[in-house]
Amino acid sequence: MNSYCDKWNLNPLKLPQHIGIVMDGNGRWATKRVLPRISGHHKGVERVQEITELCGNLGIEALTLFAFSEENWCRPEEEVYGIMGLLRWYIRKEHKRIVEKNVQFRVIGNRIKLSKDIIELIENLEKDTKNNTGMHLSIALSYSAQGEILRAVQKIVKNVQQEELNANEINEKIFEQSLDTKGLPPLDMFIRTSGEYRVSNFLLWQLAYAELFFDNILWPDFDSKKMVELLQMYSLRERRFGKTSEQLAEKSFNMTLG
Ligand code: FPP
Repeated sequence: MNSYCDKWNLNPLKLPQHIGIVMDGNGRWATKRVLPRISGHHKGVERVQEITELCGNLGIEALTLFAFSEENWCRPEEEVYGIMGLLRWYIRKEHKRIVEKNVQFRVIGNRIKLSKDIIELIENLEKDTKNNTGMHLSIALSYSAQGEILRAVQKIVKNVQQEELNANEINEKIFEQSLDTKGLPPLDMFIRTSGEYRVSNFLLWQLAYAELFFDNILWPDFDSKKMVELLQMYSLRERRFGKTSEQLAEKSFNMTLG
């Protein structure tokens, strides 16, 4: 029983456990309104708060948001500075609430280029939410999926060289333990806003069996209603994981028989 699922007419048994979102279109949202691009990112942060709260209330286990890619460092200095300022502001402002809401916070990506004070804010929040048991909220920051995979390979090679691991034992499970998303449930649902049909170096390994959703809406306009609409669409998808529809029907029939 989840009253939020009732309120939004969602079947809790048909919800994804892990959702990843590429929050695209902030710049275009601002440009359309003759505003500086950073106002689009500002509005985008408000949507981050709204969607995070909704997912938490619906009992979604993990939400991973693409906030800044490794490639985004090439954007105009003013914009990079503005986004970093917003992140700093968001973490400072939300720290207490995230801890109290029982969220497990983490940042995925390559932290090397982040400023010292942002790393400190992130580490403090990760530490303070380490023992929480609620939704996993992961922010992809200075993140590239190819980079994440290469870092995982480096870790594994080191383990093999140090004879802590036998090369023949390397399998999907072991590999996943070396990714930044270690311990998170499998990615079930991928969403990209703004009408672009790309995954842009986001969670490439984890996307293996995710259901893909592309929507024309710009991220600053992406509200709870839109999220629920996509969740309803998700609940209608048949996830076969390589099996046939008949096999799945047989399995659910056997389950009803007990
Ligand atoms: C893509 O829109 C968006 C980004 C590169 C930044 C997203 C950042 C936020 C929503 C704010 C920070 C996030 C958190 C978690 C506090 P775009 O600028 O590429 O838009 P465009 O394609 O219309 O130019």
